Amino acid sequence: MKKVLFVCLGNICRSPLAEAIFNHKCQEMGLEKYSADSAGTAAFHIGKQPDARSIQVAEENGIYINHLARKFVAEDCDKYDFIFAMDESNFSDIVSISGRQPKELYLLRDFDSDVSGGDRDVPDPYYGGIDGFKNIFTMMSRAIDNFIKVELKKS
Ligand code: 4NP
Repeated sequence: MKKVLFVCLGNICRSPLAEAIFNHKCQEMGLEKYSADSAGTAAFHIGKQPDARSIQVAEENGIYINHLARKFVAEDCDKYDFIFAMDESNFSDIVSISGRQPKELYLLRDFDSDVSGGDRDVPDPYYGGIDGFKNIFTMMSRAIDNFIKVELKKS
């Protein structure tokens, strides 16, 4: 089993959507050995359902989200084969919560083929409208597709 963890700040907008996209793609491709989960570096929303706008964008793309928010903990470093931070600040928070830099810690958009201006963050869509959620859906899907491609080349 290869376990993947997506991490954002609140674990209600970006990372649960990334988790759902990843699991959906793996299911479609019959990649049974992969499974994704998500977590947040902050505790604001523990136990909450994903944001309604993430659920909407997922549904519009035929994807079902099933997640309740939880906080990232140091032990996650040992439980997951890959950890993907959504932005630079999540990345540094993961390192400080863990007390070390997990070996396979990446920015999700390290795998995005279309990074303009060198900005590798998946922007926080919380305070914006639905278009921001559509935008992050597109960039996260593209990065996840590329990550899966890289993984498949290894096997
Ligand atoms: P997320 O978005 O990190 O993608 O889940 C956010 C959700 C909530 C807040 C910030 C970002 N908040 O400040 O409550």
